Amino acid sequence: MLNKTFFLLLAGVIAAAGAQAQPAAGDPNKGQYLAAVAGCMGCHTDTKPGAVPYAGGRKLQTPFGVFYGPNITPHPSAGIGKWSEADFKRAIRLGERADGQHYFPAFPYASFTGMSDTDIRDLWAYLRTLASDERANQAHELRFPFGWRRLVTVWKWLFFVPQRAGVNPQASAEVNRGAYIAGALSHCTECHTPRNFLGGPVKGRLLGGGMISEGRAPNLTPTRLKRWSDAQLKEFLRSGATPEGDVPAEAMEEIIRNTTSQLSPQDLGALIAYLRSLPALAEEKR
Ligand code: HEC
Ligand code: HEC
Repeated sequence: MLNKTFFLLLAGVIAAAGAQAQPAAGDPNKGQYLAAVAGCMGCHTDTKPGAVPYAGGRKLQTPFGVFYGPNITPHPSAGIGKWSEADFKRAIRLGERADGQHYFPAFPYASFTGMSDTDIRDLWAYLRTLASDERANQAHELRFPFGWRRLVTVWKWLFFVPQRAGVNPQASAEVNRGAYIAGALSHCTECHTPRNFLGGPVKGRLLGGGMISEGRAPNLTPTRLKRWSDAQLKEFLRSGATPEGDVPAEAMEEIIRNTTSQLSPQDLGALIAYLRSLPALAEEKR
């Protein structure tokens, strides 16, 4: 009896020592939530019925041409199975491949760079749990000269600030959480902040309304959204139903399906509190 307890204890001590020798591993369950609200699956899964999640092939139409989301399952050659956590962090935080080449900003790392270290670690832990798939990546079909990866160096130099999201001391914890969701995780800014002809965000127009391939992504500051109550905005971001009885265009419908409908009630509330706190920007003339 005593012996058994002793061995169990000993096994526990050895296991704890072993676990300590490794860097603290991320939490795949938290990572799954983050992957959902960051829309990783949508861009990295083909739209064909029966497509393997995260095995790539999703066609993404942009003003610069067509991108295909790559395979990010743990397959050693077709996916990112050989990557280390450091490689992953470099891709998310810096938009850089392990060989130093730049990613195209169609991969919204300009937003994801704001993620916390813990969130990146949890995301990585989740991606490691995915079923590996051998689906080969497709080459992007970009318009001249945008297919030139080195051009991204210029784009990054002009517009990309690799840094974790800061905290606004003037705003509540809830509003700060909402800013983190809108900026770093669910990347509302990618479409709702206007872009210049090089695809860089227009200064002073954060979430002031942008143009994307599919049409206009409206102004999300109180100028326009004040016509909806919090409950109406919540309903829209959960189901896509508007008080006027409309359904949103496909680009936003997909964001609702893949990201905002997946937000926990607290996070959805925080996102709305943040949108309400934005300075009201005038509508841009069309
Ligand atoms: C709006 C679409 C979009 C979203 C959302 C998106 N990605 Fe991607 N991702 C891409 C595209 C496009 C590329 C390829 C970029 C390139 O070729 O330069 C890419 C590349 C990557 C790569 C590099 C793969 C490789 O083989 O080098 C990783 C890793 C990755 N994404 C992970 C993620 C994760 C994790 C998320 C969610 C947090 C995510 N992506 C969300 C579009 C997206
Ligand atoms: C891929 C581009 C894209 C992203 C990312 C995106 N949106 Fe949208 N959003 C749109 C488009 C396009 C519309 C217009 C839909 C329509 O006219 O039917 C829209 C419409 C909306 C509307 C309705 C506004 C109105 O006054 O009619 C709200 C609210 C909204 N988006 C919030 C968000 C939030 C919050 C996020 C981040 C979680 C987000 N969007 C991310 C493209 C996007």
